[in-house]
Amino acid sequence: MVIDPLLILDNHYQDLNNDGEDIIQGLSKTPKSLPPKYFYDDRGSQLFEQICQLPEYYPTRTEAAILSQYAGEIAQIIGNCELVELGSGSSTKTRLLLDAYQKIADDWRYLPIDISGGILKTSVLELQAKYPEFFIQGLLGTYEQALAHLAANSLRSRMIFFLGSSLGNFTPQEAEKFLSQIALALKPGDYFLLGIDLQKPKDILEAAYNDSQGVTAAFNLNMLSHLNWRFQGNFDLNLFKHQAIYNVVDTQIEMYLHCQESHSVTLDTLNLNVGFAAGESILTEISRKFDLANMQQQLKVQGMKTLKTWTDPQQWFGLILCQRY
Ligand code: AVJ
Repeated sequence: MVIDPLLILDNHYQDLNNDGEDIIQGLSKTPKSLPPKYFYDDRGSQLFEQICQLPEYYPTRTEAAILSQYAGEIAQIIGNCELVELGSGSSTKTRLLLDAYQKIADDWRYLPIDISGGILKTSVLELQAKYPEFFIQGLLGTYEQALAHLAANSLRSRMIFFLGSSLGNFTPQEAEKFLSQIALALKPGDYFLLGIDLQKPKDILEAAYNDSQGVTAAFNLNMLSHLNWRFQGNFDLNLFKHQAIYNVVDTQIEMYLHCQESHSVTLDTLNLNVGFAAGESILTEISRKFDLANMQQQLKVQGMKTLKTWTDPQQWFGLILCQRY
């Protein structure tokens, strides 16, 4: 069976060409901000893969250790189903789950969703070769497009999973809305597997987001390169400096690009000209750190009941398996 590796979700190209309303909004307000989804052009996704290997960046390694220990148990609980992954990237951690499925189930499908076409296509082609007996197809698009697409086609039993604590990029209000959209894409009895980064000391967190090799800095600055090619901009990367701080009150990492000297930037296709003062900063990402019990409560409010949770011995990272009721 030959399966097209990618299904391009409606309006993806239109988004690529014409969108950017969110950029105009973010750069026009004070303080300035940019949506973290603009990290992930193909280069950004590659840099993120490098971040996952850094000694200071514990989340990927910790979550992978939990998954490798409990993937079999998760597969047992859920059985045959359609596995839908939001923000799959290279699907490296997911292979742990797919290997477990291959042992116990004979009728699963895997639908990874990502906004980086390059990394998605490469990983789908690899996975199709590794698991030839199963239907695997990448959906290219945003989370919103994917959830809208999924809501309309829910025939078989489904597990949506969202790993790596990407939920942490959303503000509390955005996260609530996002979880309600997930619930809409699930039928009663369907599952949701969520990976979340847990609260821990400030020094560990700040080291993870200000790594000594400067990969996170390159990842943060790459957002400006992305805007330059995509919206014909003229950001000068030398005029901005990366910094991440942990805000202990809001329990979130905040990642900034600090402007070093006063200047203005133009994004041609957005018809946008923005002035930057020396010392002014752009907030490019929040990465919230969660409390396991609190999150279970939030899921419950959205109609998802926790079946089981898993953590590592240091309780740095948590996995929650819940079921829609
Ligand atoms: C992929 C969103 C989970 O917040 O830790 C890594 C992204 N940013 N280093 C995170 C990220 C800086 C990452 N997420």
